[in-house]
Amino acid sequence: MRPNWNVFKLLCPTPASYDKVDPMKLIFLGPPGAGKGTLALRVAPLLNVPHISTGAIFRAAMAAGSPLGRKVKAIIDSGALVDDETTIALVQERLADLSAQNGYILDGFPRTIMQAEALDAFAVIDKTVNFDIPDADVVTRLSGRLVCRKCGFNWHKSFNPPKNGSACDTCGGEVYTRDDDKPEAIIKRLEVYRTQTAPLIDHYRNKGILVDIDARPAVESVLAEFKRVLKLP
Ligand code: AP5
Ligand code: MG
Repeated sequence: MRPNWNVFKLLCPTPASYDKVDPMKLIFLGPPGAGKGTLALRVAPLLNVPHISTGAIFRAAMAAGSPLGRKVKAIIDSGALVDDETTIALVQERLADLSAQNGYILDGFPRTIMQAEALDAFAVIDKTVNFDIPDADVVTRLSGRLVCRKCGFNWHKSFNPPKNGSACDTCGGEVYTRDDDKPEAIIKRLEVYRTQTAPLIDHYRNKGILVDIDARPAVESVLAEFKRVLKLP
């Protein structure tokens, strides 16, 4: 049932440091399609921390056809959440890994109050970044997203299309539309976000560690805003 972290680290490696920024423990919180994964790929090298996406871990398990992947596939494709027990155990194990001792970006976890309370018991988070974006932009982003099967990069049919149409510019892998980016699953994910995940905004605001960023502008502007609110060079 447990994923092989060594295989997973090949898919989501800890990037080499090119800056002297202190590592941090961050949560990226926000609706589906807000750009959490896209920004995490840009920010993780700056901070020299691993980007830990529970969605990407589940998708890697599904692609590998592992017991975990078989267990979660129908749930994820429908837009519902994987159960808290499975998800919390997965993250607790990942954070215990040596590569996560100095810092990390948690992308897509926690997603329920139960997950947030569990995380409070085994991690001290520096900041939670709340990606603010209206539903209409979410629908545009998700319905045009193309994901590389090989490296996982998120392209977009209009905003950032791969030059070669059906192949990833970075690694040549095939790009595809995620099953949970179909219209009915997008509606379900937005509803799940509103009812189960949005309450975490107050959870972290009350702890005094929430920062809001406007996720609507282009990626470079969102990155600049992120650096400004986190006081990064
Ligand atoms: P997950 O993979 O986490 O999906 P999500 O939260 O729904 O978020 P997305 O990955 O869809 O969006 P994103 O914010 O990363 O946006 P992206 O950068 O790709 O989870 C999938 C599923 O796994 C869940 O539904 C659930 O079933 C399960 N799961 C995961 N974690 C769980 C948990 N903790 N508990 C229980 N179940 C869990 O960008 C989207 C698109 O927009 C891309 O095409 C991109 O190119 C484009 N884009 C991004 N930024 C910009 C921009 N600034 N301007 C223009 N286009 C942009
Ligand atoms: Mg993502």
